[in-house]
Amino acid sequence: METAYMKRNHLADEMNDAMAGQEVILNGWVHQLRDLGGVIFALLRDHSGMMQVVFNETISAESRKLADELRFEYCIAVRGIVALRPAGQENLEMKTGKLELKVNKLEILNPCDVLPISVSQDGGERKELRMKYRYLELRRPEISNKIIMRHQLLIFIRNFLSERGFCEIETPLLAKSTPEGARDFLVPSRVQPGYFYALPQSPQQFKQLLMVAGFPKYFQIARCLRDEDLRADRQLEHTQLDMEMSFVDRDDVLGLIETLYSAIWKEFLDYDVSTPLPRIPYKKAIEQYGIDKPDLRFGMKIINLGEIFADTGIKFLKSVLDKGGNILALRFAEQPLSRSEIDAVEEFAKEQGAFGLAHFINDNGKLKSPMAKHMSEDETSKILDMLKPGDIMFVLAHEGKAGYEIMGQTRIMLAKKYDLIDKSKYALLWVTDFPLVQWSDAESKVVSEHHPFTMPIESEWNEFLERNNGEPNPDDKSVFELSSQAYDLVINGQEMGSGSIRINRPDLQRQIFKLLGLTDDQIDSQFGHILDAFSFGAPPHGGAAMGIDRTLIQITGDEAITDVIPFPKTLKGVDPMMDSPSPVSNEQLKELHIKLDLPE
Ligand code: AMO
Repeated sequence: METAYMKRNHLADEMNDAMAGQEVILNGWVHQLRDLGGVIFALLRDHSGMMQVVFNETISAESRKLADELRFEYCIAVRGIVALRPAGQENLEMKTGKLELKVNKLEILNPCDVLPISVSQDGGERKELRMKYRYLELRRPEISNKIIMRHQLLIFIRNFLSERGFCEIETPLLAKSTPEGARDFLVPSRVQPGYFYALPQSPQQFKQLLMVAGFPKYFQIARCLRDEDLRADRQLEHTQLDMEMSFVDRDDVLGLIETLYSAIWKEFLDYDVSTPLPRIPYKKAIEQYGIDKPDLRFGMKIINLGEIFADTGIKFLKSVLDKGGNILALRFAEQPLSRSEIDAVEEFAKEQGAFGLAHFINDNGKLKSPMAKHMSEDETSKILDMLKPGDIMFVLAHEGKAGYEIMGQTRIMLAKKYDLIDKSKYALLWVTDFPLVQWSDAESKVVSEHHPFTMPIESEWNEFLERNNGEPNPDDKSVFELSSQAYDLVINGQEMGSGSIRINRPDLQRQIFKLLGLTDDQIDSQFGHILDAFSFGAPPHGGAAMGIDRTLIQITGDEAITDVIPFPKTLKGVDPMMDSPSPVSNEQLKELHIKLDLPE
């Protein structure tokens, strides 16, 4: 069929020295433009690469004249003869830098208005403006390459899993509210006035129902929607590699995922991840790193000085210990710090909630510290034994988990500020045995740490029930000591994925819902379907979901997941390009039986 324009027969990237003398047609955009006294040079860009094209009066007067109209990002078709550039004019940084196309025919397929953002290079425009013209930003190869890598990652994952017997199954987007922790996006039903679907925060219940249905290995590249506050690693919609397996135990799930992740790291970063990955129980992660997603690219574990100061005469330490608190320390051995630098560390700890942050310095074998003169000989020598000359130890006396968290944040701050992180390293690990529940101040009740379908460590659970006469009693404080069979994959201090072995028995599932404060009626109306399903021979099963956007920024080295999402939203949840969210017409609202009650 004849096309209305000069359709390309080659791509820019295909041009090579052997093609010199050959006539080709290229299509693409004007990436750069130079007018050198009568001869116009343009860089034509297509998705494959760039090629210099030359408009010269002596070759085609007509095309040379038309070339005067060219501006950046005009969409053009050129026909011409491939030629070697004159000696001295080669650009060896470009793949086709030894060649040029001597144009004998130019066709302007579509002109381009004045560009609101730069395409030929990073123009440093505001992020929001770049998002408004995201399709122009995506013309830049360094930006579009990330989207192409996204595609390659998804293909890689799909192949890896289907070769291992996994079946990709789509689950509904119009679903029912799931208790995942975030707020749901709701969709009103037109035909059932007053009823709403919820967009899935994840396919959690569907994938478990697929296990009941007898699919042994499920996965899905699933879009998940959560109405939560946005951050660099959080968008309203994100993509998960969601997976589930039946007749497995925790090691099977962890083993499969770490094989997948080490294969991804090899393929995309040529990096050898040694498996099995380290596994750190949650409690130990908090005690050693003050966080449930420790960055293991650097050391500086939290040290507990409780034993050294057990009988101390230093009042504030003693009183914290007596109240069951901890004396925690970080040993900073990298470089001596000035007085003002030490003060800045203390200031940081205070911003995290510390009352103060003490310190010890080994000053050529002598202990230097505001506390030194109150310390016993034994305490002094034990602390000195832990420090090389010049080392500083920061010390926090604090009650509860908050003390660990403050030290955890201080550890990260010190590592970033003093460049202790080996950027060439990737530290992958599992954090396991998360608590079953936590206290929610916002809801004033016990809530799941992971989600309510997570299997407890059964021996602990049975003892808990026994202690409470068979009732799942949320007022028994020991509930916070219960662990679950949940695990997180952590990479370089970022939560990459999370999952668990699931409950598959209706009685246990009901008990957990009760622990979370639901009545039998609420359980039946909200979760009757899954309790029903579990009563029909539901197999043992478990799984996980990995954040695809986060995985990608680990690979590309970007800071924010917006860089690897084709059309992301701003931190306020706005799409400046489409201008969404946006009001809808009264007719649409009426059809949905919705009346607005907007704040003044
Ligand atoms: P979870 O809620 O921990 O688990 O999510 C799994 C992984 O998805 C990614 N993620 C996000 N990425 C970007 N923006 C967000 N708003 C966002 N929220 C989550 C993270 C996270 O580790 N159904 C369970 C999984 C399971 O139990 O199988 C779930 O969704 O990388």
